[in-house]
Amino acid sequence: MNSIVIVDENWGIGRDNDLLIHLPTELKYFKEKTEGKVIVIGRKTLESFPNKKPLPNRTNIVLTRDETFANDSVVVCVGEEALKQELEKYSDEDIFISGGAQVYKQFLNQCDHIYVTKIFSSFPADRYFENLDEREDFKIGWTGPCHKENGVEFQFLRYDKVK
Ligand SMILES: NC(=O)c1ccc[n+]([C@@H]2O[C@H](COP(=O)([O-])OP(=O)(O)OC[C@H]3O[C@@H](n4cnc5c(N)ncnc54)[C@H](OP(=O)(O)O)[C@@H]3O)[C@@H](O)[C@H]2O)c1
Repeated sequence: MNSIVIVDENWGIGRDNDLLIHLPTELKYFKEKTEGKVIVIGRKTLESFPNKKPLPNRTNIVLTRDETFANDSVVVCVGEEALKQELEKYSDEDIFISGGAQVYKQFLNQCDHIYVTKIFSSFPADRYFENLDEREDFKIGWTGPCHKENGVEFQFLRYDKVK
């Protein structure tokens, strides 16, 4: 299982149910990584998407505790057990845990690879990803190029679970 996230230098990921910054190159990277695959998101992250619509060309699985939640364009899983059963239908390597903070936290220990885009600036945030640099069980396995866009520098990295 994979996870994919963009963080600032404090591992902040969002504020007021939105991303900290929108970076076209990063959105393209996210699209390339997840198109044709399966993304798992919390109900709040779905609501943060433009027009609250799922992302196209991939399976969007939404986790909620609300049994009345209905949305024909996504796969709705009410609770972790329903999600576990749903995920059995897919190959582990095709699954991308895609936020937000609550969902990342619950699945972090099950992930083998975490695609982290690190922004070398900080922003006011109210949601965070765990600081992987402080964990012994994840190490950087791949370092991508640096980019500069909208006045911020950022880099694509992949953290791998230490076997
Ligand atoms: N930087 C990034 O890469 C990135 C990516 C994605 C999102 N984000 C940001 O993250 C923020 C949203 O994160 P968040 O933590 O507030 O919300 P979230 O994780 O997106 O969604 C939380 C909701 O998911 C459902 N949920 C979570 N755990 C569950 C479980 N075990 N069983 C059933 N349902 C469960 C609940 O929905 P119900 O309340 O419906 O029961 C809960 O309220 C936004 O600011 C967003 O922009 C950032």
